[in-house]
Amino acid sequence: MNDLSMQTAAEIDAYLKTQEQKNLLRFITCGSVDDGKSTFIGRLLWDSKLLFEDQLATLTAESKRIGTQNGEIDYALLLDGLQAEREQGITIDVAYRFFATDKRKFIVADTPGHEQYTRNMVTGASTADLAVILIDARKGVLIQTMRHSYLVSLLGIRKVILAINKMDLVDYDQTVFDKIRADYLTFAEKLGFEEITTIPVSALNGDNMIGASEAMPWYGGPAVLEHLETIEIGRDRLNGPFRFPVQWVNRPNLDFRGFSGTIASGRIRVGDAIVEPTSGQSSKISRIVTMDGDLEEAIAGQAVTLTLADEIDISRGDILCETQDRPSSADQFEAKIVWMNSEPMLPGRTYLLKLGTGTTAARISNLKYKVNVNTMEHTASKTLELNEIGVCNVTVDKAITFDPYIKISETGAFILIDRFSNATVAAGMIDFALRRAENIHWQAVDINKSARAIQKGQKASVLWFTGLSGSGKSTIANLVEKKLHSLGKHTYLLDGDNVRHGLNKDLGFTDADRVENIRRVGETSKLMVDAGLITLVSFISPFRSERQMARNLLETDEFLEVFVDTPLEVCEARDIKGLYKKARAGEIKNFTGISSDYERPENAEIIIDGSRTSPEDAADQIIAVLEQRGFI
Ligand code: ADX
Repeated sequence: MNDLSMQTAAEIDAYLKTQEQKNLLRFITCGSVDDGKSTFIGRLLWDSKLLFEDQLATLTAESKRIGTQNGEIDYALLLDGLQAEREQGITIDVAYRFFATDKRKFIVADTPGHEQYTRNMVTGASTADLAVILIDARKGVLIQTMRHSYLVSLLGIRKVILAINKMDLVDYDQTVFDKIRADYLTFAEKLGFEEITTIPVSALNGDNMIGASEAMPWYGGPAVLEHLETIEIGRDRLNGPFRFPVQWVNRPNLDFRGFSGTIASGRIRVGDAIVEPTSGQSSKISRIVTMDGDLEEAIAGQAVTLTLADEIDISRGDILCETQDRPSSADQFEAKIVWMNSEPMLPGRTYLLKLGTGTTAARISNLKYKVNVNTMEHTASKTLELNEIGVCNVTVDKAITFDPYIKISETGAFILIDRFSNATVAAGMIDFALRRAENIHWQAVDINKSARAIQKGQKASVLWFTGLSGSGKSTIANLVEKKLHSLGKHTYLLDGDNVRHGLNKDLGFTDADRVENIRRVGETSKLMVDAGLITLVSFISPFRSERQMARNLLETDEFLEVFVDTPLEVCEARDIKGLYKKARAGEIKNFTGISSDYERPENAEIIIDGSRTSPEDAADQIIAVLEQRGFI
């Protein structure tokens, strides 16, 4: 290695070291292509001189080919990564850009500004310390400005730069700037921002982007980059109460047991007391272990392994907290939800809720209202569609630890995941714990399910029949019940049509009502099993999620799914109740198989070929399985 490369390597090392030590500011830019957003970010990247050579070469070439700036470099092209987006002239996904100056590193989230991209914006804003809201000086405060500001405040961002762009197109006129500034400040009063810095800029010409602009001597405030470099951030997180979501239990040998993770909020010292709030177990920190040796103290953002003075039972997903300022621990809370999936939200459906490092089953039990993102008005609704925001109650299967989002975003934010597609369907921000479940406890009873079942000489269970209307489920279930009865077994048959005359009289056939229909029947069948009965359930139950929910309410060996697999053509040809005919004529809406989905079971324990097997044979087949499995 010659001197030159040694020198270069040393320089690179030194450079990387300074980069590492510089603190990081994450921000989001809100605005649309028309506001000059891409040009704005492109300008920051360009002027901070951290573009790579090949990026520059491409940019110059592309500017000549499709640029809109007469062969000059078109900064907007820096950002519009994908060809298709470039040609459409809008950016689609969240693009994260990295750049740095001598003072700070930056990650900027660039998201499209249109309403149909609300979810992208929410994603980009969820990790940001600051938001830059762009306004076109010619247009002033628009509905979209209000929407962007509302979303930013919803996600807990408290610092805003209002960049009034395209000042060159209004002759750098101070009165234009002052008017927009005053309009915005009046509107933003209710949003609770801590700091709004208004800057007049021309991103295209670079005015007030990096340093003071000569074109606007009347402006005495900081330029955009100056402000980004110096604004204070992150203090809240360090000064907040200690929160440590456990990522994994580190147990390399019998002598060491530590809890690894990243400190979400606050600081911790050796000797400090901690508590795991859902179980109430507490202990003291004995060591703070890192890759570079033990520490006396660690702060938010650091990845550490903590060892405790006592053996307490802690697992992944638990949150270790300080004992003074404790979080909530509850199984019901109110939250704001941003719906991010093209399938609408269904109240009552079970989703997986991921908060910190923990995952649990959760349901939206009550949608109180949805929020019009443009006007912030509240409207009543039963469901949320893609990009809609609502306030609702969430119920989780077991109590979890959390903080209000506004207090600590790291332990107050969650996502909801669809259990079958694994897609993230929503982002949520917790408002507060609901105390109503607090005073309801399980009442202990001495006679339990197995005592009741033993008396009846059987194993309590559920036979869950699913299939299209007219598939034959109820006929078969009825025959099975007759056979069980003649064998002296104690049974009960819950049939869709019958239950819909009483308990579920208030429900129709929308997706949301079907979810609730099955939730109630699932809970009812659980009570019947508790009563020691062999329970037959015959409902179309068209959705996988709810069948899974019903299954999860019971022990693994108590639930048998019976899929009566009869093709739609056969059911329609039978048309015993004449409903298919009406559905085809458009007289019945949301008819299963015709205008509403039926999701075929994938793991049913028993499958009946409903077009070839007679109901008698089907019933015999089911009785045989019950005998084989020791149910009867
Ligand atoms: S489920 O989909 O919510 O599980 P459920 O089994 O309770 O349905 O009720 C289905 C019965 O309601 C059918 O057998 C049929 O007689 C009647 N019905 C009336 N309207 C509809 C509809 N739109 N879709 C399906 N079934 C309907």
